[in-house]
Amino acid sequence: MNLRAGRLVKGMNKDAEKYTSSLDFDKYIFEADIACNIAHTTMLAEEGIINLEIAEKILDALKKLQKEGINALNMDHSVEDIHMALENYVTKIVGPEAGFMHTAKSRNDQVATDLRLVLREKILMIQEDILLFIEDLIKLASEHTDTIIVGYTHLQHAQPTTLAHHLMAYAYNLKRDYERLKDTYKRVNINPLGSAAMTTTSFPINRETTTNILGFDNYMENSMDGVSARDFIAETIFDLSMLVTNLSKICEELILWSTHEFRLIEISNEFSSTSSIMPQKKNPDVAEIARGKTSVLYGELITILSILKSLPFTYNRDLQEITPHLWNGVNYAHETLNIVHDMIISININEERGLELAKANFATATDLADNIVKEKGIPFRTAHKIVGRVVTDALIENIAYDDIDSKFIDKISFDLTGKKLELPDSLIQDSLNPLENIKMRNIPGGPSPKMVFMSLKNLKKFIINEKKYLNNIYS
Ligand code: ARG
Repeated sequence: MNLRAGRLVKGMNKDAEKYTSSLDFDKYIFEADIACNIAHTTMLAEEGIINLEIAEKILDALKKLQKEGINALNMDHSVEDIHMALENYVTKIVGPEAGFMHTAKSRNDQVATDLRLVLREKILMIQEDILLFIEDLIKLASEHTDTIIVGYTHLQHAQPTTLAHHLMAYAYNLKRDYERLKDTYKRVNINPLGSAAMTTTSFPINRETTTNILGFDNYMENSMDGVSARDFIAETIFDLSMLVTNLSKICEELILWSTHEFRLIEISNEFSSTSSIMPQKKNPDVAEIARGKTSVLYGELITILSILKSLPFTYNRDLQEITPHLWNGVNYAHETLNIVHDMIISININEERGLELAKANFATATDLADNIVKEKGIPFRTAHKIVGRVVTDALIENIAYDDIDSKFIDKISFDLTGKKLELPDSLIQDSLNPLENIKMRNIPGGPSPKMVFMSLKNLKKFIINEKKYLNNIYS
């Protein structure tokens, strides 16, 4: 059935039909397209624009399709897209009067509406899953507020911290990813329906009715914008690109930490594979694939932006090409989120190794310098110089951090400044001891167990509030 013959007596050839069809990825908007047609037809009937009896027949057919599912549609490429396939279905049941459902509506506003309807659900699902991930990070961090690890800058030992402090850094990254999506949701959840092809219609439609039926916050104020805007898609894919970037960084650390050189964690077998030739191998494949898939998201973002950049207002068929990249990006990001979540809660942590690494390489030197400043009132730069020499000499003479004493430091201090520091040995040992060192960083945002507990508490509150927010949207 060709409902759109219009001025074209003879349509496209088969190859061109297949080439231009969106049916393959329109499966994502199947249910949304029914909802959109139900809302529009209901409104047309309510406003007296179409006959009530005909409207009821159309609505019955749409509800029948809802039950039967997408397989009830003829998805032959000659149909072009899901909107036509759906209209064909209704026409088969209702007859030519089905054509009334397309009064004051275009596929241009329809597809924009459908995409928004589906995307808002996906965003909420991803938001929910980010919260679950953060919740598990909170649980894991709560068990490791005293688990010492070394922190890195430039991937060189920098300062000791705790595993909890590190995990909370992941959690706060994810919190922002969540908030970005929450903000984007506001710009997704607006209704373009009623824009029709581009300038609305002369039929007296009621845009508030369809907005309410479809659960949008508002309708789009400008119909040309309504049919052409896809920034809500670019923005979502950016948010998801940032999310997977953060996940990929986590994966990078899991890969690094599970090497023989670090030996800080072991990733569970469920997320590892072996080599087909080297029987001893345990490879972190899931983390590597997640790192790889992150690049796919960037590709989708650039594809979407570059389709948009050269389009004149309003609808251009190029817009259709954005859709598969949207769904691919959404799916990749969502899968990556959940698998990285599962993987991280399955890791085994080697706490002894964490402490060993924290003690190994003078990662506590900053605090020795800080304490010299506090105790002796000398400038930090001078203390920095003295402690730098302490580390160099200790490395040359093979002296461990717990063997450094006042005598050792004074020799260097005298050499560099002409003065001895005469620090109490207990102060030197406390400064150089990783656990004491961490406890001293008792500043909001810092690693001391007290401060980590505080940020755990704040994050728990955030989770409770956001779960309420999501529940409200669903109810
Ligand atoms: N399949 C199209 C898309 O995804 C629907 C809108 C088609 N509109 C048109 N004027 N050909 O964008």
